[in-house]
This record gives sequence, structure tokens and C-alpha cells, in this order.
Amino acid sequence: MDAFKLTRDDIVVDVGCGTGQLTLPIADRVRAVVGVDPEPDMLLRARRAAGEQGVANAGWIVGADTDIPMLGALLGNRTVGAVTIGQALHWMNHEELFRALVPLVRPGGGVAVVTNGAPLWLQDTAWSQALRGCLEQWLGLRLTRTCGTDDASGRRYRGGLTAAGFDLSETSVDYVDELDLDQIVGGVYSALPVDRLPAPDQRPLFAEQIRRALEQQAPFTEHVHVTMLIGRIGTGAGL
Ligand SMILES: C[S@@+](CC[C@H](N)C(=O)[O-])C[C@H]1O[C@@H](n2cnc3c(N)ncnc32)[C@H](O)[C@@H]1O
Repeated sequence: MDAFKLTRDDIVVDVGCGTGQLTLPIADRVRAVVGVDPEPDMLLRARRAAGEQGVANAGWIVGADTDIPMLGALLGNRTVGAVTIGQALHWMNHEELFRALVPLVRPGGGVAVVTNGAPLWLQDTAWSQALRGCLEQWLGLRLTRTCGTDDASGRRYRGGLTAAGFDLSETSVDYVDELDLDQIVGGVYSALPVDRLPAPDQRPLFAEQIRRALEQQAPFTEHVHVTMLIGRIGTGAGL
């Protein structure tokens, strides 16, 4: 099954857009992109990044996966070319979300679920183990969750897309990156649930603890395995 193709007339919705890392690169290929995220702070950064990059066709909505039916109602008869979900599906009820996306996506369009491999603190490197130790001490709990990047989650997501009526395909990319400490701290913030985030006045101390735990561990090399699970709406199917 082929992946879907976007056109210059398409709208794309990025659910769980965070700071717009996936939303913004899509913008110059389509008519408009809409980033949806429940965290106003994330959207503030996304909007700022859009300004810095000169992206004028991106809009930002405070909302969650459960607001997708409302978005469909707002759009009326207008459908979107694609819905993307970048490293965020583990926060959502994926079965309900996939069902809600069927009427929103045009025939020939689809859903792309992107996962970025093991979380920063669960990788097989000394710096990742040091990060895990530091975070476990700060949070007072063991960190074992894979944020939807494990095989069992992949199977559940594939099952949910198929059950909702999408045709499946899958692709992956591997790359090696060198992170700096700011990127590691930022990556941790974007992965933690809101109720686990340090209070604003604690954040300098939190970042300092991470710096101290990792200062002897550079370079921070990350082997990233990105997977993209694609669900396509067949062109023959009615909506
Ligand atoms: C790890 S970040 C990924 C951000 C971005 N998609 C990327 O690839 O860089 C996960 C994002 O999901 C958002 N999120 C959490 N619960 C959500 C929900 N129920 N619906 C939509 N987004 C949610 C968080 O606020 C956070 O910005």
C-alpha cells in the first residue's frame, strides 16, 4: 500500500504538536498547518519558532485528541490531507482518535504516526543511564515507560488504524545525532507528563541536576530509530 501524497491545497493537522518540530517543516508543502496541543507553553514556543522561520501558514490551537470531533465540526464539509501525530500518541486514546479521524481526512489522504525510538533515558548508553538515575531520583519513581515506542504499542496502533478502516504502510529512518545538554533537558521537559514537570521555580535546579549527572558523560550520541506508521483512506471509500 502506497503512502498518501499531500498537495499544495491541503490542510494538515498535527495533534500533540509540542513546539512544532514536525508541524513547521510540513508548512511549505501545503496550504496550511494547524498544530493542536493542550500545553499553552508548548504552543507559545511553536508560534515563536514559526515567526523565526518565517512560516506564515501555521496556526495553533490549545486542545487535545478529544477535541478532534469539534475540529471536524468547525471545518464542516472541508476535509484535511493528513493528520500527523509525532511522538505523542501514547498520551491519547488512539482507538477513539483514529475513528474520529476517518471523516476528517480526505480520500487518498491519511494519518501518520511518528515515533522517535527509545526515550532519552532508556537508551543503551552511559549518558542515558546517568540521565535515568538522575530523573528517577528527582521523580521518586522507576522510569520504565517507552512512550509508545515499543513493539507492543506498535501492534496496538496498527490494530487501531486497521479497525478504523485505514490501509496500513510503514517506513523507518535511522540516524545518529549528537545532543547538547540543553537539548537533553528540553527533550525531558517535552516527554514528561504535566503533573510530573518541576514547578517553574524548581526548573533551574532540575536542569542543574541533569547537567551535574551528565557532565562526565559527553559526547551525548544518540542512535535514533524513527518509525512512521501510515494509515491511508482509500480513494474508493465513501466518507
Ligand atoms: C514528546 S512531545 C512531542 C511533540 C512534537 N509532536 C514533536 O514531535 O516534537 C508530546 C506532546 O504531546 C502533547 N500531549 C499530551 N497529551 C495530549 C493529548 N491528550 N492530546 C494532544 N496532545 C497531547 C504534550 O503536551 C506534548 O507537547
